[in-house]
Amino acid sequence: MAPIVFSGIQPTGQITLGNYLGALKHFVKAQHDAQSYYCIVDLHAITVPQDPKELKTRILDLAALYLAVGLDPQIATLFVQSDVKEHAELGWLLQCNVHMGELSRMTQYKEKAEGKDAVTVGLFTYPALMAADILLYQTNLVPVGEDQKQHIEITRDIALRFNARFGDTFTIPEGMITKEGARIMSLDDPTKKMSKSNPNPASRIELSDTPDEIRKKFSRAVTDSGRGVTFDPEKKAAVANLLTIYATITDRSIESIVNEYEGRGYGDFKKGLGEAVIAHLEPIQSRFQSLRQSGDVVDILQEGAHRARESAQKTIDLVKRNIGLGTYY
Ligand code: AMP
Ligand code: TRP
Repeated sequence: MAPIVFSGIQPTGQITLGNYLGALKHFVKAQHDAQSYYCIVDLHAITVPQDPKELKTRILDLAALYLAVGLDPQIATLFVQSDVKEHAELGWLLQCNVHMGELSRMTQYKEKAEGKDAVTVGLFTYPALMAADILLYQTNLVPVGEDQKQHIEITRDIALRFNARFGDTFTIPEGMITKEGARIMSLDDPTKKMSKSNPNPASRIELSDTPDEIRKKFSRAVTDSGRGVTFDPEKKAAVANLLTIYATITDRSIESIVNEYEGRGYGDFKKGLGEAVIAHLEPIQSRFQSLRQSGDVVDILQEGAHRARESAQKTIDLVKRNIGLGTYY
């Protein structure tokens, strides 16, 4: 049987090249050999404040982007998390099976909560909702970037514990974290991951950036001391990051790019990289524009939610029965 694949992206900020190379690109590859579910996780987005109008726009933008990068709604199920109520329902049930201590150890929570005086309870219980997303579909594989590893681990722990306590209920999922592109770093600081929420827009390439913006951002990207384009993640982390971007976006090996730029300076290399990224993003951007103008996106999401619900309901019924809840299932 084809494996079940599930993943999600939050409709917050502009989608970055990190999101694309770490997650979206793998979604597209995985859809062909799997039964796949790709979700827009709007319930996760509201763990931090969101403007309602902007949130709505970002949900539709992200859906159009899913389609523009090559997800095919005929073979992959594309939907919005809040359209399938079972996510919130299982989220609650799993909150009652996860411990405060486990959630307190989550690094994403610690990073997002740091320095803030008003942190929502939802931000703290976020991993239980993410576990619900994954476990609702009896998922086998979860394509994500490196930063989600700890959340996949806690999902497995929750599922194993639940099965031990209530009998076989959930499939135990595995993370699918590919080596290349799993952690794209900031252009201004190779020790930080490229992120939607970094206050410096020059730290990231956004998928909607114009060719000029892309050229400018790469030309200003920090490089390391010394000359020569060589791959040394320890000593030349900035150049190694740019090489990783170059290789993953063109599906070439790092070695062949190093060979191409042998004896040439960083300037040439960064120009070549910029042009490769522009060429890759151009068709995605034009598909995005026409999808956004057509009215198809909402229909596709509603059809996706309908399909997702069929599978989610089966799991919720089983979970409730095993826990001993309610009267209808
Ligand atoms: P988020 O923007 O937090 O919803 O992330 C969506 C997906 O993109 C997740 O699978 C992340 O692991 C992945 N991701 C985010 N930033 C990066 C990055 N800098 N490098 C690689 N993957 C990333
Ligand atoms: N937590 C993920 C992130 O920040 C988004 C997410 C929510 C997700 N639910 C998921 C990813 C389920 C994979 C599977 O990137």
